Amino acid sequence: MTVEATVASTGEAFACHPGQTLLMAGLRAGLNLPYECASGACGSCRCKLIDGEVETLWADAPGLSDRDRRRGGTILMCQSRPMTDVRIDVRVREPIGIPRPLSTVATVVSTRPLTPDMMHITLAPADRMAFLPGQFVIVKLDGVGQRAYSMANVDQGGRQLELIVKVKPGGAVSGAFAHRHLVGDRVSVEGPYGGAYYRRDCERPVVGIAGGSGLAPIWSIAQAAAAGYRRDVHLYFGVNGPRDVCFLDEMQRLSTGNSRVKTHLIVRDDAPARTRPGLVGDAVIEDLSDLTGADVYMAGPPPMIDAILGRLVTESRIDSDRVFFDRFC
Ligand SMILES: Cc1cc2nc3c(=O)[nH]c(=O)nc-3n(C[C@H](O)[C@H](O)[C@H](O)COP(=O)(O)OP(=O)(O)OC[C@H]3O[C@@H](n4cnc5c(N)ncnc54)[C@H](O)[C@@H]3O)c2cc1C
Ligand code: FES
Repeated sequence: MTVEATVASTGEAFACHPGQTLLMAGLRAGLNLPYECASGACGSCRCKLIDGEVETLWADAPGLSDRDRRRGGTILMCQSRPMTDVRIDVRVREPIGIPRPLSTVATVVSTRPLTPDMMHITLAPADRMAFLPGQFVIVKLDGVGQRAYSMANVDQGGRQLELIVKVKPGGAVSGAFAHRHLVGDRVSVEGPYGGAYYRRDCERPVVGIAGGSGLAPIWSIAQAAAAGYRRDVHLYFGVNGPRDVCFLDEMQRLSTGNSRVKTHLIVRDDAPARTRPGLVGDAVIEDLSDLTGADVYMAGPPPMIDAILGRLVTESRIDSDRVFFDRFC
């Protein structure tokens, strides 16, 4: 049954169709709701449930604290499906013109290993899913679970989603991609989501910083930025060792013939030829001591993002409103 959600402070109301979370339904209706991971982890989509009932998808989601749970009344919009009309207390910002999310099924077209624990996955959604470079989808595997994965390609008509998945030891969803034969199967996808998308409406230099599978959104952004030939693009991709090296040729091709594009593959231990030894954060700070005027995009494990962000603020003079990142929590 379709129910209605109302934002208490503004009176704005939107329809929630069966199966939709509050976040999905609100974004689909064009409301600029606060969120980050759409996965229950970050807590950015917390809101007060004033009236009505919701079904909670992930009861232990770390986005709610123990205190929130004890006190009650606070929910995560990304993990709540309204069961009745609801009234919520949430701050809605000015609308922005970015693609609205949808739910559809997608066929797994191909899966191929990039490294011993990174896979390249191509999905073909049944309904066109337009997305901006840097955005992500929620992929649901029946009986396994649902997780966020960022697109590594640049959208051309909403027909293809290319993902880079790091296979986590014991991981439910990434493990299924690695160990099950999924080619030809249909999976559910919901999206696009994400606020760390490429800002194309300016000519500011672009600095992309990726760790591990964080390459996916940063590669998408770097390709889009390089294609315009209007901006300086600095791409930094950090991995742990030689076995993790991938995308070396692709990165070289991106910079060949475009003097405005510089790419760096940084390897912490035993850096092989054509790569740079060290840590990705050190390399960025060594090369770019003044990031005033630049747009900085980052993606990867939360400790990496937090450490680099802290250093960029203190050592590289970034414009704090021009840093966009996804923590792969
Ligand atoms: C915005 C964003 C973008 C991401 N993009 C990528 C990407 O491009 N490539 C990539 O490899 N990884 C990406 N990730 C990480 C990815 O979503 C998974 O966390 C990762 O693949 C491990 O999942 P797993 O199922 O294999 O491991 P698991 O250990 O089984 O699960 C990982 C985590 O999922 C969470 N989880 C548990 N239950 C639920 C549930 N019911 N619903 C939702 N989450 C639950 C838990 O926090 C758990 O620690 C991204 C994460 C975010 C937030
Ligand atoms: S957006 Fe809901 S917890 Fe992160």
